[in-house]
Amino acid sequence: MIEYFKEDKTFYLNTENTTYVMFVNEYNHLEHLYYGPKIEKFSNISDARIKYEFELGTHVSYSKDAKGYMLNNTLLEVSTYGKGDFREPTLHMELPTGSRTIDLTYLSHEIISELKWKNMPQATKTKTLKITLQDIQNNVITNLYYSVYQQDDTIVRNMEIINKNEEEIILDKALSFSIDMLNKDYILTKLDGTWIRERNISNHPLTPGTVRFDSKKGVSSNDHNPFFALKEPNTQEDYGKCFGFALIYSGNFEANIELNPHNLLRANLGVNSFDFRYPLKKDESFITPEVVLTCSDSGLTKLSNNFHQFISSNIINQNFKNKERPILVNNWEATYFDFNQKKILAIAKKAKKLGIELFCLDDGWFGKRNDDYSSLGDWYYNKKKLPRGVKGLAEKINKLGLDFGIWVEPEMVNEDSDLYRSHPDWAVKIPNQQPSLGRNQLVLDLTNEEVKAYLKKTLEELFSSAPITYVKWDMNRNFSDVYSNFLDKNDQGKFYYLYTMGLYEVLEYLTNQFPDILFESCASGGNRFDLGMLYYMPQTWTSDDTDAYERLKIQEGTSLCYPLSSISNHVCGDSSHQVFRHTPLETRFNVACFGILGYELDLSQLTPFEEKIITKQISFYKEHRALLQFGRFVRLRSVNNSNYSAWMVISDDNKKAILGLFQALAIPSPAMDSIKLDMLESGTYKITNRTQYHNVRTMGTLINEGLPIRVKVNHFLHNVIANRYLFEADKFQKVLTSNQLANSELLFHHTFTGTGLNDSVMLLEDFGSRLFIIEEEKN
Ligand code: GLA
Repeated sequence: MIEYFKEDKTFYLNTENTTYVMFVNEYNHLEHLYYGPKIEKFSNISDARIKYEFELGTHVSYSKDAKGYMLNNTLLEVSTYGKGDFREPTLHMELPTGSRTIDLTYLSHEIISELKWKNMPQATKTKTLKITLQDIQNNVITNLYYSVYQQDDTIVRNMEIINKNEEEIILDKALSFSIDMLNKDYILTKLDGTWIRERNISNHPLTPGTVRFDSKKGVSSNDHNPFFALKEPNTQEDYGKCFGFALIYSGNFEANIELNPHNLLRANLGVNSFDFRYPLKKDESFITPEVVLTCSDSGLTKLSNNFHQFISSNIINQNFKNKERPILVNNWEATYFDFNQKKILAIAKKAKKLGIELFCLDDGWFGKRNDDYSSLGDWYYNKKKLPRGVKGLAEKINKLGLDFGIWVEPEMVNEDSDLYRSHPDWAVKIPNQQPSLGRNQLVLDLTNEEVKAYLKKTLEELFSSAPITYVKWDMNRNFSDVYSNFLDKNDQGKFYYLYTMGLYEVLEYLTNQFPDILFESCASGGNRFDLGMLYYMPQTWTSDDTDAYERLKIQEGTSLCYPLSSISNHVCGDSSHQVFRHTPLETRFNVACFGILGYELDLSQLTPFEEKIITKQISFYKEHRALLQFGRFVRLRSVNNSNYSAWMVISDDNKKAILGLFQALAIPSPAMDSIKLDMLESGTYKITNRTQYHNVRTMGTLINEGLPIRVKVNHFLHNVIANRYLFEADKFQKVLTSNQLANSELLFHHTFTGTGLNDSVMLLEDFGSRLFIIEEEKN
């Protein structure tokens, strides 16, 4: 709820459990008062306000009749440089006079019910508070927008900067939001990484100075995600106060978390000001991307759940909100570029037999593409690989009983392509200079109207040319040699922002034209996993790393902000193509099933054992799909702190859950282990484990401990057994009340430790795991 109180000029933004307060102060600045757990209206704001009542040392006082009022120690909703605030500003610009100081004061406010930005990702809105600030002397208007989401405890903010001068102004920096607060020894949590190691959680205690992290890569990037949290030092998953901030944007961004000498913390986030120079002519405006804010006083799980609920209800295309997503097979790790129709059909045929629902044809189906040196841009089928084209293959796949999906990388072009030969000026590069390449390719200039029109037309034709129900939209290089032939010299500093807006325009068009196609975004895996892309494409290929153990870290980190329904995971073959690690097939599934499940291995070469196991995995996933894709996710134990990490996904009514227990390395003679489950509805619960099987091939002579007959390892009989025999793992069944699960806890079977192997011992190899199904007992 948005409330304005005239008497003290305060704005209260209340959600179910949080309150955000700001007010117009005596100098007409919009001052921040409070953000946190829900509180009542202050009877007197000066009782809560951070204000120095004296002039502090070397500080600058705002004006001569305002001695104690120093912007450097004032909590501000939007901050600028030049009037004594020496912290990182939200906004910085060059004015027509050449001056670089602006001072924004309150002009008006209103509550608007319809707010829609053209061609850019944004949260759906009901009511939005718009506060207009102005710099009277310099004719600059800034509108601040606040939308409030009661149920999800979230607020969405952004700003619009309008030039009212006859002459141009130049924006050097225009972030989306800024928040000031008194520091409580906050720890900064962010998601860092690189290719095949995306979004690992990192924690940083703050010390005076600024932590800045950003992307200069043209995409939001796998180095740092455009998300961060601030938490009090004692915060855990289920305890403590924390705040989270996520940007709805897919291009270069920056985040600054600054602690000033007086223990005031400022955090801001938005489009990267590095290599950004945005001239605005008279009446032109710049709209910053939106940012999502949330707060929890009961730990990180609640913070994440707020984001997940908010994203599912207000960012994701509502056509796909609770729509169960198909289980797919993708041929990339199975074939790379080396395939033909026969090979693809062999994989698809086996996929159907296993219960898979969709086939995605990955890179290599178009132009003359047999490696990554050529053909990006030439979106017509390769006759050698697909004699009857995409349509012919799609129809054959449909006939097998599978839906058909296709991979594209539309934003790119290879120098060796028909597109580049006819339009070399469409690529991003500096005239008369040799451009640097990434994966042998160049980026198409999406600031250029012709390029956007070409992409809309070409992709529209492709997507309508065959029964395509799924598209994997890839993007495999970071930017270099940035220059657009389409933009004036004076506008080159707009490039990154306009590129991102150009991409959004193309996506807006295509997703409207094809509302039933499920789009999955990808950028070498997770190089562009952000809310901007999720607005157009409800799921993202999380990482090119399909190793189950690495995925524990990646998916755990990703889940801090993003819902399971956006996290796409594949079961890969053995060994991992990224880290050359062997993990059990059952674990590869147990990790991949938390989110959107797929398979990415040569199914036509499965052993009979693997076939049986995968069939069972798929039917388990189908039975629990709604829960695994849309349930409430809980990180019970972090892979970063424990040899036995654990996740859980719970139904909306708290009556059903699936728990995953994942071992890193096997420990000899470990202690017994139990886990506290205190989030279930009161009642009695049956806890069983998903039936899993060991591959006797990996067991060596240990099989003679588990089998009724003796076999010689690697002999004929061993191989026959390895291929056919399903050696069932331990059976787990308990009945406990929710109260017992919370207090006496769920006690696991002891893991195998050299002696004894029976139905009540978990034979867990390195990277072994189990899934448990927790269901309320019906009376
Ligand atoms: C990227 C993707 C992979 C695959 C290849 C194809 O790396 O992340 O999944 O599609 O491109 O070239």
